Amino acid sequence: MMLPVMSSMPATAVDLSVDLAGLTLRNPILTASGTSGYGSELAAFLDLGTLGAFVTKSVTVEPRRGNPPPRAVETCSGMLNAIGLANVGLERFLKEKVPYLRTARTVVIVNVAGHRVEDYVAACERLDACDCVRGIELNVSCPNVVDGLDFGTDPQRLHALVTAVRPHVRNAKLIVKLSPNVTDITATATAAVAAGADALSLINTLQGMAINIEAQAPILANRCGGLSGPAIKPVALAMVHRVYTRVARDASVPVIGMGGVTTWQDVVEFLLAGATAVAVGTALFVNPAVPKTLCAGLREYVDRKGLRSVRELIGRLH
Ligand SMILES: Cc1cc2nc3c(=O)[nH]c(=O)nc-3n(C[C@H](O)[C@H](O)[C@H](O)COP(=O)(O)O)c2cc1C
Repeated sequence: MMLPVMSSMPATAVDLSVDLAGLTLRNPILTASGTSGYGSELAAFLDLGTLGAFVTKSVTVEPRRGNPPPRAVETCSGMLNAIGLANVGLERFLKEKVPYLRTARTVVIVNVAGHRVEDYVAACERLDACDCVRGIELNVSCPNVVDGLDFGTDPQRLHALVTAVRPHVRNAKLIVKLSPNVTDITATATAAVAAGADALSLINTLQGMAINIEAQAPILANRCGGLSGPAIKPVALAMVHRVYTRVARDASVPVIGMGGVTTWQDVVEFLLAGATAVAVGTALFVNPAVPKTLCAGLREYVDRKGLRSVRELIGRLH
């Protein structure tokens, strides 16, 4: 008996793997830092082996309780958060979280934050010595103790930070996560690349605020927070495209695009704009298994366009 041909059968010939600064990812879908903890939280809903890479929540040298609640609120097509880098701290991360990450059948990227250059250096040095840590992503959207300004909003400050960290990241790939809260993101991208970043990721959240008009008070205890979700996707796409065409492409530095990714069509847009990989964050709160849907849709699209590899989409925008 002839079996009917299933139109929904995956096209096995399609190659979804990408090369991220020498790291081979089985597909271009990553988690965005801070949206799925340290891995085990997401594993209850999604086999981490289906991801191109797992990116952890920001880790700081000292443990942090973060900001008081309320620290997250839903907004039109997105959410605001002011979590305040709550995390277990470097020592507990190494002792309690790394053993689990070691078992994850995917590339592990650890996101690092700090308030002093020395903190970033100390964290990077320890993490780079972990065999399972393949990438270190610097969250530079943190105010430094000297003047309270974010490391990532001033090109010179960012250059100094990346230069200080660079010699301590020898095994892992060094990824610098850019802040969108700047006038010209190509200036900070250029600074990060000049200081030796292996890859760039963008965008982090945009500054925002929500007000309770009855209480006539800010909704977040921290007053302001970071806006994420579909509301920021057009901003993120424009920034990824600018950074790719003006800085990253010529420097052969891959870009990880993120901001509002919810559907496989969003993933395709980011790839066309110049991203080599795409991270999904806020959408995981709606559906933690969404990376699987993104991969399936992407595979079908690549096949339908008559391409062999997803890599052919990167920067293909006419
Ligand atoms: C609740 C929440 C927590 C986050 N925590 C971090 C963090 O710890 N470190 C970091 O670099 N980015 C953090 N981000 C930013 C995301 O990694 C991502 O850059 C941003 O949310 C845009 O992607 P999205 O629209 O898909 O969420 C956080 C975002 C959210 C929503």
